[in-house]
Amino acid sequence: MSKWASPLMLLVFVFLFEVADGYDPMDPQGNITINWDFKTITDVYTVIVSIHNYQLYRHIEPPGWKLSWTWSGSEVIWDMKGAETTEQGNCSTYRGDTIPHSCEKNPVVVDLPADAPYNAQAGNCCRGGVLTSIVQDPTRYMSAFEMIVRNPMRSKPSNFSIGVAGYTCGDPVDVPPSKYRFDGQRYTQALKTWQVTCSYSQFRESDMPSCCVSLSAFYYQSIVSCPDCSCGCQGSPAASQCISEGQQPNYLQIPKAKSQDEPISPVVMCTQHMCPIRVHWHLKSNYKDYWRVKVTITNLNFVKNYSDWSLVMQHPNLGSLAQVFSFNFQPLFQIGETNDTVMLWGIERYNDMLLQSGASGNVQSEMLLKKDPREFTFKGGWGFPRRVSFNGHDCIMPSPDAYPALPNGSPRKFPTSAAVHQVVFMGLSPLVLYVVVLLL
Ligand SMILES: *[C@@H]1O[C@H](CO)[C@@H](O)[C@H](O)[C@H]1NC(C)=O
Ligand SMILES: *[C@@H]1O[C@H](CO)[C@@H](O)[C@H](O)[C@H]1NC(C)=O
Ligand SMILES: *[C@@H]1O[C@H](CO)[C@@H](O)[C@H](O)[C@H]1NC(C)=O
Ligand SMILES: *[C@@H]1O[C@H](CO)[C@@H](O)[C@H](O)[C@H]1NC(C)=O
Ligand SMILES: *[C@@H]1O[C@H](CO)[C@@H](O)[C@H](O)[C@H]1NC(C)=O
Repeated sequence: MSKWASPLMLLVFVFLFEVADGYDPMDPQGNITINWDFKTITDVYTVIVSIHNYQLYRHIEPPGWKLSWTWSGSEVIWDMKGAETTEQGNCSTYRGDTIPHSCEKNPVVVDLPADAPYNAQAGNCCRGGVLTSIVQDPTRYMSAFEMIVRNPMRSKPSNFSIGVAGYTCGDPVDVPPSKYRFDGQRYTQALKTWQVTCSYSQFRESDMPSCCVSLSAFYYQSIVSCPDCSCGCQGSPAASQCISEGQQPNYLQIPKAKSQDEPISPVVMCTQHMCPIRVHWHLKSNYKDYWRVKVTITNLNFVKNYSDWSLVMQHPNLGSLAQVFSFNFQPLFQIGETNDTVMLWGIERYNDMLLQSGASGNVQSEMLLKKDPREFTFKGGWGFPRRVSFNGHDCIMPSPDAYPALPNGSPRKFPTSAAVHQVVFMGLSPLVLYVVVLLL
């Protein structure tokens, strides 16, 4: 056993525990917070429920959130604005003129569409359950509805869920009441506020990666493709259904969702990697003070358009990103001391929708980076990203020994010790990594 074996194993396990725990080093604070703000607590409770997506780069896409919980007693939802429950449930004990909105013990609440009738709406409602990340659109990362509850709430409801794969929610806790400001100097506040926090884990969402990275460089004659079986092997039971290139997709064979609300499982183009999303990093040009990279995201999924997609990339030079030509971008400073991670996303109505495969399913942009003469080099794969994630899903990178080499065959070496973590991570076969994580 080499003297490196134990420190390296330690690193691997530290990394794996981080991920398995739902901890995301690129967004350590990220969570979805649900507030219950009580406006009246007399014979009826009026509650404003708001859902805040405090994640830097992960959004809730269609079909959107579905908030559910379990009442502790005989509570009923008398009325609701800005959302509705999917079931009215058994309200047979109510025989008056008005019948409650929902008598379900486990109500499931869904958002209304944007064109809902005006009198059914409430402030910040009606976005079809879609929430952007907080970086992407600070006006659409939260959503709210109002409900009137009857029968005493003797204890707090429990068993909260937002109905989106990968998220788990805790139980409500008392927090200081939310405050509202209507004019210059006066605040009003809720009578009391309960808060539920939900966290995300990629490994809870899926046991298979969904994205991989390929590389090329102006000085290298071929393309380093995504590692084989990055997202499963063709024909294996865990892999997605696939359609060969050139073969006209037979839409009759593509599974239809059971209902409009169900996500459709991917049907991808048959490739060696089988990923629905491929991110390609092309090292395009070298200037005196700058260098240029072209990034292309290709959708190989025939049955999904990715709306409001986002890409997060880590590279030591990204702190000196001078220009991005066709995407929005923002450095993610929140990540400790480092300045090497940026988030990129589409420009509204231009390329914020990554269309399904077969319908021009790609978006691309060039980036201009200012060289830092102290560390800039094309040697040892330095010019390629350390980490890439699409919509908050980590992408599988080629192994470092496959990286485009400089033509003169200069010796390959990683210049910084920081790269060790990466080497360890990438050196493991992606499937082995996932299997180990699942076992933990
Ligand atoms: C959830 O996110 C908010 C906003 O970033 C943060 O203030 C809060 O501490 C987070 N909560 C948890 C439990 O991490
Ligand atoms: C509905 O609730 C009433 C009263 O709790 C009960 O008697 C009745 O059996 C329930 N009906 C159904 C169909 O569950
Ligand atoms: C928790 O909620 C689910 C529906 O989201 C429901 O099927 C289940 O019975 C609930 N669990 C408890 C203990 O009530
Ligand atoms: C994706 O968008 C295109 C163009 O708007 C549309 O024709 C297609 O039906 C959409 N596909 C899915 C799966 O929603
Ligand atoms: C990070 O880079 C940006 C430019 O992209 C710069 O404005 C900022 O000052 C840098 N921050 C740190 C902490 O180095």
